[in-house]
Amino acid sequence: MKILVLHGPNLNLLGKREPEIYGRTTLEEINAQLLALAKELNVELKMVQTNHEGVMVEQIQQAAEDCQGILINPAAYTHTSVAIRDALAAVNLPTIEVHLSNIYAREEFRRVSLSAPVVTAQICGLGAEGYLWGLKALVQMVRQESRFK
Ligand code: DQA
Repeated sequence: MKILVLHGPNLNLLGKREPEIYGRTTLEEINAQLLALAKELNVELKMVQTNHEGVMVEQIQQAAEDCQGILINPAAYTHTSVAIRDALAAVNLPTIEVHLSNIYAREEFRRVSLSAPVVTAQICGLGAEGYLWGLKALVQMVRQESRFK
């Protein structure tokens, strides 16, 4: 099983970016933790960080060809991108949306996620741990689904 882990804009700055909101864990550390968990779960990860909306759309489209699930933090595009939402709806893969912060406890413009209605589940407010819970849930979900097919 292969999972696309897609990190959106500014997440390359984790660790030094507003640490009181996003914590001090860097993206490299999050990816290393995800890789260790993936090894335990016996799954392969394709990990991409990009600051570009179109690249995110292309990665989601590509996932339909070679991945069985998507773990995504669309970051700021969560609140603005119809294109990312449409790509997620089009590929219709089991998908978990992760946010480090609790977007519902923040500014009003962050309380709307355009992608939430088209993903399987959303995890927010658990910091870097949220990615690990997300990967676990996703792998379990994909395995259960294929069991019933
Ligand atoms: C974020 C929340 C977004 O509102 C913000 O633009 C981000 C990160 C989070 O992980 O908490 O860049 O997705």
